[in-house]
Amino acid sequence: MIDLPKLGLGTYKLTGDAGRDAVADALRVGFRHLDTAVLYGNEVEVGQGLRASGVPRREVFLTTKVWHTDLAPAAFRASAEASLKRLDVDDVDLLLVHWPSPDLDLDATMEALVRAKDDGLARHIGVSNFPPRLFERACDLAPVVCNQVEYHVFLNQDDLLARTRAHDAWLTAYRPVNKGAVNDEPVLREIAANHGATPAQIVLAWLLGQDGVAAIPKAASPENRRANFAAKDIRLSPDETAALHTLTWRNERKVDLGWIDWKNG
Ligand SMILES: NC(=O)c1ccc[n+]([C@@H]2O[C@H](COP(=O)([O-])OP(=O)(O)OC[C@H]3O[C@@H](n4cnc5c(N)ncnc54)[C@H](OP(=O)(O)O)[C@@H]3O)[C@@H](O)[C@H]2O)c1
Repeated sequence: MIDLPKLGLGTYKLTGDAGRDAVADALRVGFRHLDTAVLYGNEVEVGQGLRASGVPRREVFLTTKVWHTDLAPAAFRASAEASLKRLDVDDVDLLLVHWPSPDLDLDATMEALVRAKDDGLARHIGVSNFPPRLFERACDLAPVVCNQVEYHVFLNQDDLLARTRAHDAWLTAYRPVNKGAVNDEPVLREIAANHGATPAQIVLAWLLGQDGVAAIPKAASPENRRANFAAKDIRLSPDETAALHTLTWRNERKVDLGWIDWKNG
């Protein structure tokens, strides 16, 4: 399993000067992992924030992603090169296929991904939004170190997690605090009270406590960024962990482009 800081800053919607300042502030708070994508339209600001923070480039794990419309080899390469240019870095730590496209040519896309790594554009490569079987096939074709997927306390990922672990790959949880919509759940409120923490911190601590799971909460607010960083230090008991796990069976998936069979795909 590669070395990757378990807690990262998600940057979707962190744009403009505020986005740049949020990235710089997060790094000063102690975050060492940034998640961006071509789709987010903020790679310039993420790169600026990284430099403004004063934290050396090599101390920060930087991820970007290629959108599903650019998965044919030439377009893939152009997308990755443009990302490096916008970020103003020599390489990224992790380059991901953002979503499998409806007409995905997996062999060609994985070949393009491997070539990006071999040519030094990315230190590591991986996928995002790959359902279990497609993930297995991707691992047969390339050294995949990560599958970034929706994962939070209201969505079960046991099957995928068993597979990422079996491949020594990370499951990186996006939407980890369910957009902050966690306050109405009594189980969460009770566990939060036990720890003098907020429900959002508890759901994050629950993810970070799992082997092979990283999480990338987005926070525009400085207070939320600090609360999320502090969640790293919350240790849940086995009973609390089990109680939180039972909530996942609600299977409330929120992010879907409509063409993926999440169970059998
Ligand atoms: N690979 C993919 O297809 C994919 C899809 C979705 C997301 N992502 C990545 O995952 C990241 C996170 O996902 P997300 O932004 O959708 O959802 P999220 O991180 O679960 O939720 C972000 C929202 O929760 C709020 N929040 C954050 N920390 C909080 C706290 N401690 N207490 C209360 N509220 C809190 C934020 O408020 P403020 O902003 O006001 O602080 C924001 O409104 C994205 O930014 C992106 O990098 C990837």
